[in-house]
Order: sequence, then C-alpha cells, then structure tokens
Amino acid sequence: MNPNVITSGGTFVESPGVRTQAPTALLVVEGLTKNFGGFRVLDATTFSLPEGQVTCLVGPNGAGKTTAFDCITGFLKSDAGSIRLRGDELIGLGRSDIVRRGVARSFQNLRLFEEMSVVDNVIVCLADETGNDPLTAVFRPFYSAAVLRRKREKALAILEQVELAHKAEDHVTQISFGQQKLLCIARVLATDAKLLLLDEPTSGLSATALDNMVKVIGRLSASGKTLLVVEHNTRIVRDIADRIVFMHQGRVLAEGDPQTVLDRSDLVEIYFGGGH
Ligand SMILES: Nc1ncnc2c1ncn2[C@@H]1O[C@H](COP(=O)(O)OP(=O)(O)OP(=O)(O)O)[C@@H](O)[C@H]1O
Ligand SMILES: [Mg+2]
Repeated sequence: MNPNVITSGGTFVESPGVRTQAPTALLVVEGLTKNFGGFRVLDATTFSLPEGQVTCLVGPNGAGKTTAFDCITGFLKSDAGSIRLRGDELIGLGRSDIVRRGVARSFQNLRLFEEMSVVDNVIVCLADETGNDPLTAVFRPFYSAAVLRRKREKALAILEQVELAHKAEDHVTQISFGQQKLLCIARVLATDAKLLLLDEPTSGLSATALDNMVKVIGRLSASGKTLLVVEHNTRIVRDIADRIVFMHQGRVLAEGDPQTVLDRSDLVEIYFGGGH
C-alpha cells in the first residue's frame, strides 16, 4: 500500500498483520470544484495535508493552485466538494471564521498595508483580544493601553521569528521586496493559525533573500505548523517539501514524496511544457 495515502484516522497497513501510524490528515480536500463562467478551474480536486508536514503544491501556470487557496480560505465560494479540517467542514464558513479555526494564507501579490509601519501590519492581523474598541479606550484607558502594549510585544516577537524585528518601525515602502515577503509570513503567523497556506513565498526573491525564506519556512515547520506552499522552483521544492501535490488543469495528478513525484517524466513534461 502506498505509504503516502493518509487515512482519516492516520493508520495504514504496511504489510499483512503490521499496522503503522501514518501522520493524521489535518486537512482533507475532496472533489473540490470551481467554475468561472463556463471554465472549470478546479475539477474535483482531491488531496490531503498531513499534520506537521510541509506539502508543496506544484503545477504549471493556471493549474488552479491559487484558486484552491481561495476556496480553502473562504475567499471564493466553491461549486462542489468538501474541505474538512480535522473532520469539520469549512465550506460555507466566512473568511474570519476559517482563520479562527486555524487556517491562514498569504497572497501571491503581497497585499500589505503600504501606508503603515511593519509592526502595525502585524498588529492588525493578531488574533482578537478584547479591549481595543473605542468604548473600552474611553472607560478603561489603562486596560486598553495594556492590551495595546501586549499586542505590540507579541507583534515584535513574531517579527523576530522572521528576522524583521530591526525593521519594525519602518514603513512597508522602506523595506526591501524580500523583507516585504517575510512580513507577509509574519502576518500569517499573527493569526495563530496551525495550517499556513503560502502562495509563492519565494517568487521574485534574490538568492540571499531566497535562502533566508527557506530557513524561515524550515523554522515554521520545526515549530509544529502544517504548511501548504505553492512553489515553482523544483530545487526549493526538494529542499522544503515532505510531500508534493501536483496539479494540472484543476486536477491532482500525483500526490507523494518529492523524489517520486518530481522524477516522473510525464509530470516533468507537463510542468516544463506548461511555461516553466
Ligand atoms: N476571477 C477569475 N475569473 C476568471 N478566471 C479566473 C479567475 N481567477 C483565476 N482564473 C483562471 O483560473 C485558472 C487558474 O488560475 P489560478 O490563479 O488558480 O492558477 P495558478 O495555478 O495559481 O497559476 P500561477 O502559477 O500562474 O499562479 C487560470 O486559467 C485563470 O486565468
Ligand atoms: Mg497562483
């Protein structure tokens, strides 16, 4: 039996009479379908994400990777299928509810607040805490100030994790592109989510910034986060991925360990024939 097939209970039979514990699936996407007009972008997309692992979502341009992210995180309404987080259905929930359940994403096109400082960009993403509404600020000013102080400290600690604490007071426009990409990761971390979906975190980075991002991703994984990372560079995929989900034209063509998937000549042909 294929050891990369994750059962809902996390157990698979390796050989008759021998039971081995496979990682439990944190997220199971089944039959996910999305149409834009008459064009089917996700076509019964099915894959699972084992808890605590880094899965790379790969495939040529237009394969449907970002659309899958959009459906999982509630940015798009899917037409059919299911997305279960530890067995609980996410389809039908709003974006903030999905974040509260522990699933957060970064965007291919950054989406930072450019007029704000680096630290404020993280503070606005911190998981809710009471005390920051205007009435509390008026009637309980000391409590409110303490909440703000705590949020700031928390945001600075997160910036430390992505090696950006020294840029906390800079404006987003003053930091480099590589640092902006790291800030996107910090914002995802601020939500306290267990499952992080990163859409092309390394795209456009210089060699040094790229090495840095790979290090940060490794650190997130070591801290126990489960990651789904869209990545086009196969060298980086081999570096960071425990598993690969290979998508093409809205369908998952392969799911498994990086070596096996990346060595399949039919997939390599699709991948490099598809514009990369
Ligand atoms: N809002 C939309 N309306 C219509 N078509 C869309 C929309 N968003 C995406 N598409 C189309 O859906 C297909 C999948 O797009 P998607 O952005 O999910 O691909 P991707 O795998 O993320 O590609 P890339 O590697 O270039 O980021 C593409 O053909 C795209 O043109
Ligand atoms: Mg994309």
